[in-house]
Amino acid sequence: MRLLILGTGGMARHHAEHFAAIPSVSLVAGVDTNAENLAKFCQDHKIEHQFTSLQAALDWDQFDAVTNVTPDKVHYATTMACIAVGKHVMCEKPLATNFAHANEMADAAEAAGLVNMVNLTYRNVSALQKAREMVQAGAIGAVKHVEASYLQSWLTQPAWGDWKTESQWLWRLSSAHGSLGVLGDVGIHILDFASFAAGSDVCDIFCRLKTFHKAPGDKIGEYVLDANDSFAASIALDGGAVGVVHASRFASGHMNELRLRLYGDKGGIEVTNIGDLGTLRASLGDDMLTATWQDIELSPVEMNYDKFVKAVADGTQAEPNFRRAANLQKVLDQAVVSDAQHQDLPTGTGPTD
Ligand SMILES: NC(=O)c1ccc[n+]([C@@H]2O[C@H](COP(=O)([O-])OP(=O)(O)OC[C@H]3O[C@@H](n4cnc5c(N)ncnc54)[C@H](O)[C@@H]3O)[C@@H](O)[C@H]2O)c1
Repeated sequence: MRLLILGTGGMARHHAEHFAAIPSVSLVAGVDTNAENLAKFCQDHKIEHQFTSLQAALDWDQFDAVTNVTPDKVHYATTMACIAVGKHVMCEKPLATNFAHANEMADAAEAAGLVNMVNLTYRNVSALQKAREMVQAGAIGAVKHVEASYLQSWLTQPAWGDWKTESQWLWRLSSAHGSLGVLGDVGIHILDFASFAAGSDVCDIFCRLKTFHKAPGDKIGEYVLDANDSFAASIALDGGAVGVVHASRFASGHMNELRLRLYGDKGGIEVTNIGDLGTLRASLGDDMLTATWQDIELSPVEMNYDKFVKAVADGTQAEPNFRRAANLQKVLDQAVVSDAQHQDLPTGTGPTD
């Protein structure tokens, strides 16, 4: 598979490393509007062809598939252009900046019969896949209660860089630059994590969003710092459970931590992304009498990158796909409206995986 990498910033490095490790993949070209980023990236990853516009790469046409690692607001137009000329696409999350665009992308990819995946990376966490398997096998019975969080702290410490000066952080703080704040950036991950493990979609949400004061005039250069930094939501799942989901970039002491607890009438499980495989523990059967928790053994699972390459080679489809991402985007959109109206809202999504 001849792969084009579209967007050559921070996350693209992970894509390049993972795809390059798959023997049937050739990284044939990179595209970035920032020529400096592009040149360094292509040199580091030994990529022969460089383009400073997607159109130039589409005119060249010597590739089969695209991995889209541009900022959120760029996903829609660029992915639609790739689909229009018959390229398979893996796109970063969130798929778009609103449901209408995400839905259009899913419709277009499905109509064209192209492989379409969204890179919900925590699907690669073994603990999550095992948790879903256990829930589906009835290990905890009917799921009644959900508690999920995604905690980051890049606004309170500089381990990942300086958010006050680096564009890769500043665009995430600005709605004019296409960011839906922490809700769009990592809320989509934790909503997927929780609903995928529970095997049940979010059908109702009541969300509170908060943008904290961070700079004089709430502005740094061209970036107006108006995108939300924390959210807290009460949710209902279509399987009947209720629960809470929250995320923050102000979670001092946590670098990048997802934690999910699912409680059913036959037991409870707790999943995290900590370590190579994540962690999974459960309190089941007689252990419930003493509130004892046992660690569950885990083994590696196939990553999104491998699934994408396999689907293109086999002419099949793989998950998580654009339809899943569009349905999650609907939950995000409703979360925003819910915050503005101080109201509990249905998401109107049907069951998907
Ligand atoms: N799945 C994950 O866990 C995960 C982790 C980090 C980032 N991401 C996602 O990856 C995407 C990129 O994030 P990042 O941290 O790499 O951002 P970044 O700012 O570091 O990199 C984005 C790159 O895209 C380039 N770009 C901007 N507009 C372009 C265009 N029209 N055409 C081509 N290139 C363009 C920029 O010049 C930059 O080099 C975002 O959607 C983000 O949400 C996902």
